Amino acid sequence: MPLEVIILAAGQGTRMNSRLPKVLHPLAGRPLLEHVIEAALCLQPAAVHVVIGHGAEQVQEQLAHFAVNWVIQREQLGTGHGVLQALPAVSRDSTVLVLYGDVPLIGPDTLASLVAMAEVAPALLTARVADPAGYGRILRDSAGALVGVVEHKDASEQQRRIDEINTGLLAAPAADLMDYLPKVGNDNKQGEYYLPDILAMAVAEGRAVSSCRAASEIEVLGVNDRVQLNQLEREYQRRQAEQLMRAGVAVADINRLDIRGSVSCGVDVSVDVNVVFEGEVNLGDGVVIGPNCVLRDVTVGPGTTIHAMSHLQDADVGERCSVGPFARLRPGTVLAAGAKIGNFVETKNAQLGQGSKVNHLSYIGDCVMGDGVNIGAGTITCNYDGVNKHRTEIGAGVFVGSNSTLVAPLCIEENGFVAAGSTVTKSVGKEELAVSRSRQRNIQGWQRPGKRQTED
Ligand code: UD1
Ligand code: CA
Repeated sequence: MPLEVIILAAGQGTRMNSRLPKVLHPLAGRPLLEHVIEAALCLQPAAVHVVIGHGAEQVQEQLAHFAVNWVIQREQLGTGHGVLQALPAVSRDSTVLVLYGDVPLIGPDTLASLVAMAEVAPALLTARVADPAGYGRILRDSAGALVGVVEHKDASEQQRRIDEINTGLLAAPAADLMDYLPKVGNDNKQGEYYLPDILAMAVAEGRAVSSCRAASEIEVLGVNDRVQLNQLEREYQRRQAEQLMRAGVAVADINRLDIRGSVSCGVDVSVDVNVVFEGEVNLGDGVVIGPNCVLRDVTVGPGTTIHAMSHLQDADVGERCSVGPFARLRPGTVLAAGAKIGNFVETKNAQLGQGSKVNHLSYIGDCVMGDGVNIGAGTITCNYDGVNKHRTEIGAGVFVGSNSTLVAPLCIEENGFVAAGSTVTKSVGKEELAVSRSRQRNIQGWQRPGKRQTED
């Protein structure tokens, strides 16, 4: 039977106390709903329907890159009502899996077993929890067969003592949802149309409703407030760090590494504390990442060290390079093998040749550098005239003395030499020396000013 997935994501999320719709709050850098859609896509369903309401436009816009069917639920009249809105687009011969947009860590294995149970009758995902308050409770007969779900608010004192709860996630033949849901009423404490009411209806017709448990509790945890969101975030990050360690990465502290995206690592990579990886990060064999570094969409070649407090974005760092401490590599930075970027250096759209060095306090932007170049402390490429950006080309073996100002467009050809403190506005030819600073005068017999005598 074909599978279709309905994701309920219309709720407001009042307890987040936020202007952002709840399902757009990020977990590991990506919206909650994105995690759920991806879990659904793992099952290769025929269609994914996402029921949205609060902040619908914003949700749709931010997740426009997913090929899903957006269904608007104008008023949130309950989970049963939400599913009903999506049914017109669902084909009757399919199995339907219902997920929540705010239960982000649900795993494909758990979902696959739930779906497998739902070919002939509804199946529910349940969990046993230490504190069941607030959840719907699972009702079973004396033989242990599931007979229904009672919401916390509607439950008797005795029913509230049941610690098996409804996770909210279920699967059912589409035909069952189509037949039962229109008959579900809202005569209950919350005046809502409850989706789990279809279970008792199926049981009343003598059908066997099945249930299964999630592989781990974290999979079925929902996000209602920022505290719960953070609990999931920490657990998710801990798991990612653990995976890296099992793959051979030395992580200094499992609680002080955040991955918001994906990381691939060679062998014997080491990552110090308080490191954040964002987007796609690739680290070659033996790479060392110092403490307090942020790397976003960066590739680092084998044997390279990124020293403490460095920030790298959209950069391609070659092998055996050294970056930082306190370096900022901005988009378009490409370092060839053995290049070195030292402290308080900013680069942008800059290519450094093999073994080239910018060791201290410099800005290198819109610049192409050959091999073996040495850029002295405090060198600035003046790439911007207030309107346009201009390029600086620096040939192999060039030496630029400290505190030089290179006014682009400019070319310093191979083995050119710029004297310290120069402001260079004209191109420098091969092996030429450019000096552009006022000549020093030494005045002999000069008297230092003395302390003036005051009259009183
Ligand atoms: C629901 C279940 C409860 C279960 C609990 C697990 C019902 C009646 N109750 O309760 O048995 O233990 O989840 O967390 O199903 N939503 C919509 N449209 C609506 C209503 C809800 O899209 O009209 C979405 C919400 O955005 C949310 C999800 O459905 O993602 C669950 O809704 P929520 O109000 O949190 O249900 P609970 O009362 O927690
Ligand atoms: Ca909830």
